[in-house]
Amino acid sequence: MGTKYTMALLGLLTLLVCELVEVVNSNRTEALRIMENVPVIDGHNDLPWQLLSGFNNQMNKVDLVTLNTTHTNIPKLREGRVGGQFWAAYVPCDTQGKDAVKRTLEQIDVIHQMCERYPNDFLCVNSADGIAEAFRTKKVASLIGVEGGHSIDSSFGVLRTFYNLGVRYMTITHSCNVPWVDNWLVDTGSDPATSNGLSEYGRNVVLEMNRLGMIVDLSHVSLKTMKDALEVSQAPVIFSHSSAYKLCNHARNVPDDVLKIVKEKKGLVMVNFFNDYVTCSKVAKLSNVADHFDYIKLIAGYESVGFGGDYDGVPRVPEGLEDVSKYPDLVAELLKRGWTEMELEAALAGNFIRVFKEVEQTSIRMSSEKPKDEPIAYKEIESDCRTNYGYNIPSGTGAHPHVGKGLLLLMCLFYTLFA
Ligand SMILES: *[C@@H]1O[C@H](CO)[C@@H](O)[C@H](O)[C@H]1NC(C)=O
Ligand SMILES: *[C@@H]1O[C@H](CO)[C@@H](O)[C@H](O)[C@H]1NC(C)=O
Ligand SMILES: [Zn+2]
Repeated sequence: MGTKYTMALLGLLTLLVCELVEVVNSNRTEALRIMENVPVIDGHNDLPWQLLSGFNNQMNKVDLVTLNTTHTNIPKLREGRVGGQFWAAYVPCDTQGKDAVKRTLEQIDVIHQMCERYPNDFLCVNSADGIAEAFRTKKVASLIGVEGGHSIDSSFGVLRTFYNLGVRYMTITHSCNVPWVDNWLVDTGSDPATSNGLSEYGRNVVLEMNRLGMIVDLSHVSLKTMKDALEVSQAPVIFSHSSAYKLCNHARNVPDDVLKIVKEKKGLVMVNFFNDYVTCSKVAKLSNVADHFDYIKLIAGYESVGFGGDYDGVPRVPEGLEDVSKYPDLVAELLKRGWTEMELEAALAGNFIRVFKEVEQTSIRMSSEKPKDEPIAYKEIESDCRTNYGYNIPSGTGAHPHVGKGLLLLMCLFYTLFA
């Protein structure tokens, strides 16, 4: 009697467990089926930074198939059904006013090299049509995003040259102010507001990006900058790797009022997976990331949400999202939460492609406008490291090197005379 009862209970339990496994598995199978046609386009990956910091960009010493010290390698991208990736041409803020432009060019070069060295896996593209071509040929559409306005060194000429090299978004700040725009650290009180959002020059940078067809990325900028850029930009904008402020009060995330403007302007917030932005703590799980997808969908609509993992740019990622092979698990979780196939296809790729096409159309619309050419005020960029060609600055009047040298001379004189 007792044994029979136990057996029956065991049978029931087994059935229940099987059912559960079935539900989870079937959602994952379904996720893979959806991603077969519509792979994920991710807004931000820092593999190029790993190539610089780990290998000094010596691509002859790297094998992107067997590389196992990063979140990203080619087999993981395949397993994760990644069909498009914005690779970040990121250089840290301490290059500002020094070698930022040279180092950014080198990061652009290393992305070009990824495509040249792995032509069966990466296709460097710079248009919405290019993404479709990569999807068709089952390669990772590889796009370039410059992370931080410091990379253009306050120069429209550099901005246009980046565009010509294939750069299709610029995050207008990283974690530092630029002479023409404020970053998110202004909102935490660690940086002073120097431009109060976008300065007049900054507004012109945004308009020049619109004219060129370069997407304006607002991850890392201050709240005032977000609002200024959303107002000024003639095309939809993106947050390439930011999450919802309501769920984690971090200034890198997007608050509700901004989410509503993003919805109105048909822009896009690509959810960042970094634990610290997902739960405002060191630990996070896949389900916490899914909460951000649900929340942004609730406030901004499914047409304004996307994926922006920030892989290889952060020291911690959530349990269940350990590397770029895990996107299908997140899609399975969203299916479990009731996301429809149509909504998922939008979040995976459709929303980004819509924004990109709109940015391309805006560029065509603005094609009769002249390129911006008014230089930034000399005082904004004056430093010992620069020449002042073109500015017509009379030599010897207040330029630092002369003052510095004069002082030094005086001090030397003093020393020799009185020491
Ligand atoms: C990672 O790759 C290195 C070099 O190819 C190899 O020696 C090592 O065993 C690998 N480690 C793991 C955990 O696979
Ligand atoms: C996914 O999971 C949910 C909830 O567990 C279930 O109701 C649904 O049938 C599953 N969907 C698929 C396609 O398997
Ligand atoms: Zn970033």
